[in-house]
Amino acid sequence: MSVTVITRPQQYHIDFFQEHLADLSLAGKRVLEIGAGIGELLRLLQDHEPVIDELVGINNIDYGAVDVGRRARLVKADVCAMAFPEHEFDLVFSLATFEHVHDLQRAVEQIHRVLRPGGLLIAKWSPIWNGFDGHHYGETVKVRQAIELPWAHLIFDRTTLGAYLVDGEGFDRNQARQATEDIYESDWLNRQSLRVYREAFAHPGFEVQRFDGIQCNFGPLMARVAAAVDRGFVPRWRVAEFFRRARPEEILTYKLIVHLRRREERPPTQNARPVPTVKS
Ligand SMILES: C[S@@+](CC[C@H](N)C(=O)[O-])C[C@H]1O[C@@H](n2cnc3c(N)ncnc32)[C@H](O)[C@@H]1O
Repeated sequence: MSVTVITRPQQYHIDFFQEHLADLSLAGKRVLEIGAGIGELLRLLQDHEPVIDELVGINNIDYGAVDVGRRARLVKADVCAMAFPEHEFDLVFSLATFEHVHDLQRAVEQIHRVLRPGGLLIAKWSPIWNGFDGHHYGETVKVRQAIELPWAHLIFDRTTLGAYLVDGEGFDRNQARQATEDIYESDWLNRQSLRVYREAFAHPGFEVQRFDGIQCNFGPLMARVAAAVDRGFVPRWRVAEFFRRARPEEILTYKLIVHLRRREERPPTQNARPVPTVKS
């Protein structure tokens, strides 16, 4: 028996739509969503602007029968290997997806290829891995909502986090093994740093209109870390070592908002590869 999933936007879809898409004039335009999930934004968009010429969403997995509305279609495709022709779209947008894309440079190159000159890329995602909940544990194994200690996955490593989950959080050994495998090895997240995102999106064929990082509030997070130290669940030296090495921008940025406009032409100076110099 096949069941058709009906999409229902959640508040974060509505917020993204209102903040980034609702004011664009998209009549007669061709639009692509990268990582469309079950198409909540596709539906919002066509309800808002029924005369979009083409509205396609891609995912790298097949979600089966999903009702995304009459004017949109959902297809299985990897952003790094899209079969769409060059210059096919006026707008490419994406929500909560680039933290899952492993080859970011290739993805940006492909988006550049399918956008027409002057076309826009609008994306929002979390640079999750270096964030306080970068383990994203509650999402991958529903044993528990999340590990309580902020940055636990970076303060510990795989072995010591396993021990912490058993001794400090009361997991059984199998659960702890499964959790640490998911956290450190699954290919669900790319585990990239802000620096890598910055480099990947600094493509010479795009003009950067926005590259905003939204930062979380350090005080309450630090109070939770301090409480874990006081309870004796995490050694003080381990926490001190983590904060000594960590760059604030990397560990506090929890959302990225990127607006890029495809240039008409690549600027010739940036197109050329730097010539290596040889010291005599
Ligand atoms: C966390 S979901 C977000 C779905 C939707 N944008 C939302 O906000 O509800 C990430 C989506 O990105 C898709 N995705 C991950 N890597 C991808 C890739 N390399 N190419 C295309 N889609 C990808 C997944 O299939 C998944 O649907």
